Amino acid sequence: MRILLVDDNKTSLTLLTKLVDSLDHCLPIAFETPIGVLDAMPELDFDIAIIDFQMPWMTGVELLAEIFKFEKYRDKPIVFVTADTDLATRMAALDAGAVDFLNKPVNPTEFKLRIRNLAALADARNKLADRASWLREEVEKAVSELREREREIIYRLTLAAGYKDPETGRHTVRVGAYSESIARSYGLSEKFCTDIGVAAPMHDIGKVAIPDAVLLKSGKLTEGEFAQMQRHAEVGSDILGKSASSLLQLAAEIAGSHHERWDGKGYPYGLAGLDIPLSGRIVAIADNFDALTTPRPYKEAWTVSDTLTHILGQSGQQFDPDCVEAFKNAVPTILSIMDAERDMDCVRSVA
Ligand SMILES: [Fe+2]
Ligand SMILES: [Fe+2]
Repeated sequence: MRILLVDDNKTSLTLLTKLVDSLDHCLPIAFETPIGVLDAMPELDFDIAIIDFQMPWMTGVELLAEIFKFEKYRDKPIVFVTADTDLATRMAALDAGAVDFLNKPVNPTEFKLRIRNLAALADARNKLADRASWLREEVEKAVSELREREREIIYRLTLAAGYKDPETGRHTVRVGAYSESIARSYGLSEKFCTDIGVAAPMHDIGKVAIPDAVLLKSGKLTEGEFAQMQRHAEVGSDILGKSASSLLQLAAEIAGSHHERWDGKGYPYGLAGLDIPLSGRIVAIADNFDALTTPRPYKEAWTVSDTLTHILGQSGQQFDPDCVEAFKNAVPTILSIMDAERDMDCVRSVA
């Protein structure tokens, strides 16, 4: 237990130092002037402070005010030593935050008993603080483990969908990364950006319910087949929406709204403008960018330049103008993600 002693009277300071030294597990840290204490902070480490009330240059109360400017000292027990038995002085000491005061000249027996009690109090406080910080760390660890598991479940569900159509699998991963870039460029919170990055890959999960004859058809879909294909939005929202997990809730919101259009001509509900969830408005652009820049059984890949012209031209029609603006600013990041994905494809095809 480290005991800070501050007293300008050398004889008194020597006596207090000896008394603290004589106590088990107590180490005195003595200062003759308040200035010395100020200079030693904030590195100064102590558990209890015993401060002379009347000192030249700075009173004990003024010194205490300086000490308490540092958060780390605010819960330390402080005791004033004073020759003044005046009630106003004692009130000022307590008002400044002292837990106790001792009269000068100090009675050695009383001093040792008081310090022993305070040391027990400081020890209990330290243990409580250690326990609180241990508990906080454990809760944080448990929350992050839980979140990690949620992410893994989402990732594995996305993988499962990818087995039905490998191209859909890669598409969903890219849409997650593009959506996160657009969300960052939009200035959304870090949590929302990482969440949309994890949840967006599930936007087409409802395609597991679409018959292979329609999902994998290389020619143009008939009107009836297109209507069947459109069902993936609602099915995806149904699959994910019943979960209590906030990440899966977000994934459900995205699955159900990524084919809505700003002008209200989308599906499945024909929502328009700000009635469409922001997550859906962002993923709609990421989805469209990826769908156009990759070849599909029924079409060639568009060039990046043609795709950008198309998306910017759809601002205020198919897409939210603010999200298009965010997309425009995120294009350099999106193109580097696209290049990294293509490099991985090359590695995969060589392997
Ligand atoms: Fe979709
Ligand atoms: Fe998609």
